Amino acid sequence: MSNIQYDIAIIGAGPGGYHAAIRAAQYGAKVALIEKDKLGGTCLNLGCIPTKALYASAQLIEKLQDLNEFGVEIHDYSLNFKKAVERKNKVVRDLVEGIGALERAWKNDVFFGHGKIIGGDISSGFDIEIQGDKAQKIKAKRVILATGSSPALIPTFNIDHERILTSDDILDPDFNIVPERLLIIGAGVIGCEFANIFAAFGSKVTMLEYLSSPIATEEPMIVKELLKKFQKLGIEVKNSLNVLSVENIGSSVKATTCSANIPRDQIENAEKFEFEADLCLVSIGRVKESKNLGLEDLGIETNRGVIKCNTDTLETSARGIYAVGDVTGGLMLAHVAYYEADIAVANALASIGGFPVKEMKTDYRVVPATIFTSPNISSVGFRRKAAKDRGINVLMGQFPYQSLGKAKCMGEEEGYIITLADKKDLRIIGASCIGIETSELIAELALAIKNGLTVHEISKTIHCHPTLSEMVLEGTEAIVGKAIHKKGRPIHQ
Ligand code: NAI
Repeated sequence: MSNIQYDIAIIGAGPGGYHAAIRAAQYGAKVALIEKDKLGGTCLNLGCIPTKALYASAQLIEKLQDLNEFGVEIHDYSLNFKKAVERKNKVVRDLVEGIGALERAWKNDVFFGHGKIIGGDISSGFDIEIQGDKAQKIKAKRVILATGSSPALIPTFNIDHERILTSDDILDPDFNIVPERLLIIGAGVIGCEFANIFAAFGSKVTMLEYLSSPIATEEPMIVKELLKKFQKLGIEVKNSLNVLSVENIGSSVKATTCSANIPRDQIENAEKFEFEADLCLVSIGRVKESKNLGLEDLGIETNRGVIKCNTDTLETSARGIYAVGDVTGGLMLAHVAYYEADIAVANALASIGGFPVKEMKTDYRVVPATIFTSPNISSVGFRRKAAKDRGINVLMGQFPYQSLGKAKCMGEEEGYIITLADKKDLRIIGASCIGIETSELIAELALAIKNGLTVHEISKTIHCHPTLSEMVLEGTEAIVGKAIHKKGRPIHQ
């Protein structure tokens, strides 16, 4: 057992964990960060960052089609996925090393191995065993669990990591194949992002989705716009299909499906539809990682891997132990994990006392999210249906990229922004956007919603011209029919 009594021990060094460690050190806490694999977790190693690095290559390929129009004539080019993968690996390596350097700079102790709480309580501190090459034990006054999630390995899909793959397999540093035909099961966020990347590199992509629409969480009209683009890229999306089995048949994979509307007891005799491809990606969701953390002995409840905690404070039923990020069963987004890390650290340190931080409560009303397809899709706050279901009298504004000077100069005219306001006071309550750089635009709208800003307050803020940020200005002014570059009938309010 180390002689150091840490203020906080954090298990898991993904976005939730590494962020919590740095934040706690900024408040002056003595921190232990425990990781069984690589710093940065899924986001840096097998998620957000590597996909966005490959996405950058895919975007360049798409841009190549328009070069002539821009006065750039390239007579010959070829695509080299291996190089794109090498670049992706370097981006990942650099960022992972960066996290290591930051933890060192904040004098946090990083332990590599599987962390497990083996005893203790809030008054005496918790004992943690780190199982690795050499087993170690440490003691900490508070613990934050940030153990994340991993791809769901559902037996029906026979994931063999050879031809039937998860996103982890595809983002492995050694994976560098562009299959001629790629089958994707699950047209959610991961499925759509990979469909876009591989279609750009030349794969014929087919997606099989159980629901009647891909990424069903987004505004239907935004999804419709994405599907138009997918069609152009040759991506086929087959909705409302129940995937009954996936098999590696040697030189290819075969999926057998039937309509998702067939009741379970009638599947055997139902009409079947088969799909064949060289590789298959299964992206039907992720499972939470909470095994072997010692939770049962501490009386911490889990439900299908989700660690139950107080959704305001993020404290589990064992006082002094908190949980953040994917493992809490909330939105599986790196930035939500960052946010929760701040809350858990504040509450943990406030409960110890003597640190310059007060208790905090979560507030999930404003969570921006982006799907990195081309074009991007971003959203924040309410979708139209959800707002109407809540009884809100919704006003909607819409503004197209093609009417924006900067977008036209960039040759990026696809898509539009939708903004929503509450008719009673014109406060912005939601926004969805499809087009170039929506991931950047959505930040201003998140700030507006979080701070209860109205259409007029955005309208009175000077936005730099010509910029894409004017999409937010015009999109918001469109709510009251006052976007300058769009015909409309003003609503005087
Ligand atoms: P998801 O929940 O976004 O999508 C899974 C899709 O698979 C759904 O459309 C679902 O209806 C479908 N599905 C489920 N079972 C099926 C079956 N048997 N046959 C056919 N379709 C089936 O999950 P996904 O894409 O795996 O992503 C996991 C998490 O990671 C998400 O919560 C997402 O928010 C997060 N993520 C976020 C990213 C971002 O913010 N840009 C990027 C990638 C992932």
